[in-house]
Amino acid sequence: MRKPLVMGNWKLNGTKDSTKELATAFAAAANKVKGKVEVAVCAPAILIGTVEANAQGSALLWGSEDCDVHTKGAYTGENSPAMIKEFGSTFAIVGHSERRGYHHESSETVAAKFKAAQEGGLIPVLCIGESEAEFDAGTTMAVCEAELKAVIDLVGIKAFESAVIAYEPIWAIGTGKTATPEIAQGVHQAIRAYLAKFDAEVAASVRILYGGSCNAKTAPELFAQPDIDGGLIGGASLKVPDFTAIIEAALQRA
Ligand code: PGA
Repeated sequence: MRKPLVMGNWKLNGTKDSTKELATAFAAAANKVKGKVEVAVCAPAILIGTVEANAQGSALLWGSEDCDVHTKGAYTGENSPAMIKEFGSTFAIVGHSERRGYHHESSETVAAKFKAAQEGGLIPVLCIGESEAEFDAGTTMAVCEAELKAVIDLVGIKAFESAVIAYEPIWAIGTGKTATPEIAQGVHQAIRAYLAKFDAEVAASVRILYGGSCNAKTAPELFAQPDIDGGLIGGASLKVPDFTAIIEAALQRA
């Protein structure tokens, strides 16, 4: 059975004080649903230690919003999986559309990050999803399949036994335009069907999160869909009542 997962993605937001407040509140919320729903938060690298300090010993899991492909050396500004792991992290988001877009990360780079994260003992959260133009052109699955294929080519399908996928239509991120439950379910189902061509067991067991303006209002219906195993939450993960309500919405799957 796939355990529901609700994961925050703080992006470029937060201070030491806000991190303390959110991590403490999310730790309490995670403890309440312990064993039924996994709750996690991915923070800017510089704040991960503050999350750790305030959530250690609780059911809250945490991680980074990105990681480098290298383990160490002359790569100014980067954070290695080992560094991220040292601060108690479980997850590393890789391939978020903001990294693919603003930082020109190719699917091959994202695949290398996926591999590096796993080799460093982290669970990669692979983000995939189409732009509005691609959605309008009906090429959503071609985009998602190509982004998945780059990872499968590098590490093989079995690597998804210890990974999470987040389907995030770019047109829905931060726009308030949540994909309808029908659209999201259709894509999630198609992603699983694509993975099943490589390995049916992996396809059935991998968790696929929905991301893109998922909030307290839209989460219940999204999480009621058979192939949506939780959410990757941006804006709403910066507010305690909103994120807590989304965690509660995931309980229906438990
Ligand atoms: P959003 O962001 O919930 O603010 O739309 C989601 C994401 O980009 O992970």
